[in-house]
Amino acid sequence: MVRIAITKGRIEKDVYKLFKKCGFDVTPIETKDRKLQVKTRDDFEFIFAKSNDVLTFIEHGMADLGVVGKDTLEENDFNNYNELLDLNVGKCYFALAAYPNYKTKIFNGRKKIATKYPNIAKKYFSDMKENVEIIKLEGSVELGPVIGMTDAIVDIVETGSTLKANGLEVIEKISNISTRLISNKVSLKYKSEEIYNIVDKLNKVIREES
Ligand code: PRP
Repeated sequence: MVRIAITKGRIEKDVYKLFKKCGFDVTPIETKDRKLQVKTRDDFEFIFAKSNDVLTFIEHGMADLGVVGKDTLEENDFNNYNELLDLNVGKCYFALAAYPNYKTKIFNGRKKIATKYPNIAKKYFSDMKENVEIIKLEGSVELGPVIGMTDAIVDIVETGSTLKANGLEVIEKISNISTRLISNKVSLKYKSEEIYNIVDKLNKVIREES
């Protein structure tokens, strides 16, 4: 059995499509409803979790494979995993975003930055040699500037429509993000045949599609 932890949300459907194109059984996933764990004909057990928890399950050896965004991998300093494949879905990027006057604005004191990704934001500003105050928000980070709490945000941009709808714009693109297949290090050793069978099939489908 191979246990695969999938990040719930936006990328789910694209990931199942990839598994289906590989010839793997995804029927139990399509009919799972609120179930958090399903088994398939291929002797896979899929579990569905929040992105940080996918990484936690992999770190603790409770899942063999994980499907998670590069954003989650970059934000956390876990290291008990191998990154096996870029699934080429969930493509977006980290950006510094703010109102258009950000560049011309004169800042008295430290800038305030809202983000769901404090480590990414800290690294970005430290690379820029800027001393800023980072304020962690759990979501709708754009509210930082909208309610006047922060000068800017460091967040994920996909279509750009959330920024646009709130009068914000990308000040600087920081790095690209996409969905990755990761494995627990021990699983890769002891279930290498099963895991590389999955990796090879996914890789073939991804190459055919790009
Ligand atoms: C993400 C991100 C932005 C938005 C960007 O939030 O934090 O708010 O998506 O997408 P766009 O460029 O296509 O508009 P998400 O919708 O995942 O929810 P959250 O803000 O509650 O975390």
